[in-house]
Amino acid sequence: MTIAVTRKAHFNAAHRLYNPTWDEQKNKEVFGLCSLPNYHGHNYELDVTVIGDINPETGFVIDLKYLKTIIKKNIEDRFDHKNLNQDTVEFKNLNPTAENIAVVIWHLLKPKLNPNHGLSITLYETERNFVTYNGN
Ligand code: NI
Repeated sequence: MTIAVTRKAHFNAAHRLYNPTWDEQKNKEVFGLCSLPNYHGHNYELDVTVIGDINPETGFVIDLKYLKTIIKKNIEDRFDHKNLNQDTVEFKNLNPTAENIAVVIWHLLKPKLNPNHGLSITLYETERNFVTYNGN
């Protein structure tokens, strides 16, 4: 029997979507307002879901206090109130789309978890636009 446990988190960050191998015009066509050169912010909402068996001793899949702590240390402290393109090593050379941010978050958190547990990351860039990555 496996069960999914989710912790919601949040961070604010600025970004610009840009492909340096394209000219400004093509970047504007593809990325629209998200390619404006002076950056803009999003209020990112993050759902971190851990999937596994219930530990019979604790009744938990994962201690949510621990999950909260690893999200704070590895995600919020790293990205909150940052310019993703300029202030983070992760997005120096990686376009900070919601897709890429979700994959980066997955890779930052996965090593902190029990290797038998599954991990699914859902990242909301807006209320209506969100992506999910589960490591596959
Ligand atoms: Ni944007």
